[in-house]
Amino acid sequence: MPQGLPEVLEEWKWLEEEYQQLQETHRIYLQKLDEISNLQKNCSSSISRQRKRLNEMSHLVKKCNKGPSEEDVKKLEEIKEKTRTRPNAFSEMESFLPKKNGLYLSLVLGNVNVTLLNKQAKFAYKDEYEKFKLYLTVVLMLFSFICYFFVSYRFLDAILNFLLVFYYCTLTIRESILITNGSRIKGWWVFHHYISAFLSGVMLTWPDGNLYKLFRNQFLAYSVYQSFVQCLQCYYQSGCLYRLRALGERHNMDLTVEGFQSWMWKGLTFLLPFLFFGHFWQLFNGLSLFRMAQLPDCKEWQVMMCGACFLILFLGNFFTTVAVVRQKLKTRNQKRKSL
Ligand code: COA
Repeated sequence: MPQGLPEVLEEWKWLEEEYQQLQETHRIYLQKLDEISNLQKNCSSSISRQRKRLNEMSHLVKKCNKGPSEEDVKKLEEIKEKTRTRPNAFSEMESFLPKKNGLYLSLVLGNVNVTLLNKQAKFAYKDEYEKFKLYLTVVLMLFSFICYFFVSYRFLDAILNFLLVFYYCTLTIRESILITNGSRIKGWWVFHHYISAFLSGVMLTWPDGNLYKLFRNQFLAYSVYQSFVQCLQCYYQSGCLYRLRALGERHNMDLTVEGFQSWMWKGLTFLLPFLFFGHFWQLFNGLSLFRMAQLPDCKEWQVMMCGACFLILFLGNFFTTVAVVRQKLKTRNQKRKSL
């Protein structure tokens, strides 16, 4: 239907007014961004200043002679306690401030800011990371299952190993971003993924031959089992994440997290036997490969290299898991005592 000029002008006027409003809102937005970036700079420099002075302070306190009065002793103890706990508060603050990327992220992503500035965004990123892990793990489990039971082509094994390399490399990047955002992932798990990526890369280059065929089924069965355990682990870890989010509490073990604690212990005691069995399977793989390397017709360097990787994985996984469980038990006992 043809429109008259008055309608067009009316519409245009309305559009223009909205555009003016939009320009104003965008100007305010840019101004606030500027303010935020100034606040971020202020906070960051204040934190480094505080850190330096706190360090000096703790030296001073150490050298300081205790005064005769009980009150002086109390005051000194109070300062000591605060100098001990304050660095944690700084780290917590820093996880909401932009910072320079570490070496790995600088190499992979360049110097782009990866700090997520609020808790919801951090949770959403972690949630997405757990989902990514779960989906890819299911794909890997199906793939290795098919390779184990139904088809036996070196070409398909190569695709499986390529997928594994892709999976572990992506995890290392995502985990570095999570750590920048305040996650407490232990260094070993990140290192574990570097080694696993390397191991899968080496498996990819292992030429088809008698020795490869000898190890193939053991490796595929291990892959199926590992993916299965990783699914359980993902279920446990996203369970922890959802419960923590529901509580609205993180890194804070007070009474309100009692329900979370009991769920966590149930999950952990269910998971641990599967994890330890997987660790001993890694040891078994390592030892089998070392034995294979002794054979007179073993010419491939991949045999020894994969054996060493499996052995490192076993040692790291086993001792880190034991340390994690011991630490969790210790905190639980301390909490019980303080109740
Ligand atoms: N990979 C990636 N992230 C991990 C991790 C792992 N294996 N283990 C722990 N984390 C993360 C947690 O998600 C948590 O992150 P957040 O700070 O962002 O919330 C942080 O590290 C601290 O976790 P923590 O409290 O120490 O442990 P947990 O209760 O989440 O998990 C275990 C404990 C033992 C279940 C877990 O470490 C694990 O599964 N380890 C075994 C892995 C393994 O051996 N795999 C090979 C199987 S064959």
